[in-house]
Amino acid sequence: MKIYLDTANLGEIREAARWGILSGVTTNPSLMARETGADFKETIQEIAALVDGPISAETVSEDADGMVQEGIEYATWHHNVIIKVPSTTDGLEAVSRLGRRGIRCNVTLCFSTSQALMAALAGAFVVSPFIGRLDDLSQDGMELIREIAAVFEQNSEIRTRILAASIRHPRHVVEAALAGAHIATCPFKVLKKGMRHPLTDKGMASFLADWRAREVDMALAGASSG
Ligand code: G3P
Repeated sequence: MKIYLDTANLGEIREAARWGILSGVTTNPSLMARETGADFKETIQEIAALVDGPISAETVSEDADGMVQEGIEYATWHHNVIIKVPSTTDGLEAVSRLGRRGIRCNVTLCFSTSQALMAALAGAFVVSPFIGRLDDLSQDGMELIREIAAVFEQNSEIRTRILAASIRHPRHVVEAALAGAHIATCPFKVLKKGMRHPLTDKGMASFLADWRAREVDMALAGASSG
């Protein structure tokens, strides 16, 4: 299981990159819109300078011609740029056409196994099932990951990786790994939460308190013997 960061915030990417766990970054138009005033191309290039792995940049056209045009341009920004297109028939066409030019695609907004299968057959590099948004509708996002993984497993010609997206909490990451996802793209706060545990904090506090008490004891012993 690889971990990507789901953000366009350079501060978050810089910090998570220092932890040494990041294999890539995904952005989308909503995440870019949160970075007020930031230039899209510059942001993607700065991300690519921070993380040596696939960086998803999403198209905003609704037709295949537009997606292909945007994809060709984004691909010139950095060799690690992956073109994100939606799970639509135009998206499939864009994947096929960009693939013929050696440009890799992330098929996003995937909510069904049929969408994932067709994205894979079109030659998608990764497909992004949205777990959290399905859970929000009282559907089982993780079951979608399991079903896609089973279908891909049975079809050995499929090379497409499963990228679990719309991750809401650390258990989503673990469950996605168990369900067969190859990658999970996580909001920064989910990554931070994934390393927090009250028993770790409590254990650190008691170890430090014991160490300081030992130092005081040793200082007192030194003073009384001298
Ligand atoms: O980047 C795509 C996906 O991860 C978005 O997640 O939280 O907006 O459903 P969310």
